[in-house]
Amino acid sequence: MWRSRNEVHRTILEEIKERREQSNPAESDVLSRLMSVRDEAGQQLTDAELLYFSMITLFNGYETTSSTLTWILYWIHHQPEIHDKLRDEINALGANPDPIEIYRLPYLTAICKETQRLCPVVVNGSGRILKSPLQFMGYQLEPGTQLIPSIYLTHMREDLYPQPQRFIPERFLEKKYSQYEYFPFGGGHAICSGLALAQTQMKLVLAVLMSRLQLALTNNRPIKTENVGAFLVTPQRDLQMVVTEFKRLQIQI
Ligand code: HEM
Repeated sequence: MWRSRNEVHRTILEEIKERREQSNPAESDVLSRLMSVRDEAGQQLTDAELLYFSMITLFNGYETTSSTLTWILYWIHHQPEIHDKLRDEINALGANPDPIEIYRLPYLTAICKETQRLCPVVVNGSGRILKSPLQFMGYQLEPGTQLIPSIYLTHMREDLYPQPQRFIPERFLEKKYSQYEYFPFGGGHAICSGLALAQTQMKLVLAVLMSRLQLALTNNRPIKTENVGAFLVTPQRDLQMVVTEFKRLQIQI
């Protein structure tokens, strides 16, 4: 794993070097945008900073969102009545909906939330280190103690989510959960900075996919999870789907 990481680092650093040597202002990809950033003193980001932000965008940004989308596709095809209800909600918007209208769809939102409750791809928040003593649920915790909030265990609490192992999007239509009961993107100062981007991407990609393709799971067995890197839990690779129909009414965004 470390060898692959070093290779990725080397590739990105070579790309940065090349672009520093022959800068092209017309490029508009993420790396070019990062390279065009200047601070108040007119300074560019250093190579180390560019590498850090590129890695964050590549890994925090893509694996998390794509794995969550995979879970959504799995759940809505595993429970076809949910798929059909969502399809009807999206179709009711017509052929050229405003992306904001898609973003605000209540059932689509509930499906995304329920997927992130039941299958949070980041199962724990990052650790917080106490600066002062804390009395917490009967424990006396001293400064320096590291606390790690468990997203998965909180989302599985029966008192908050009856039948927690079941995929029931309606719970998010019936109840508003607090940030201490539901936090797939973490919380507080270190809350995920890609939250809005991820939510928007997932909803728009899902709506476009559903308007263009009819998909089906190749089998209906439960999906196992696998750990990717230190903190990501994703569906195992053998989750397979096939396209059974190309649709005529297609959303354009
Ligand atoms: C479904 C998609 C995503 C999920 C579930 C997710 C989840 C998380 C979680 C749980 C944290 C830790 C927060 C905490 O400890 O309180 C985090 C941090 C972070 N995420 Fe995401 N994330 C997603 C997408 C993204 C995207 C798209 C980006 C950027 C393009 C991103 C960038 C970051 C960054 C930079 C941090 C560190 C924030 C900090 O420490 O200040 N994430 N994310």
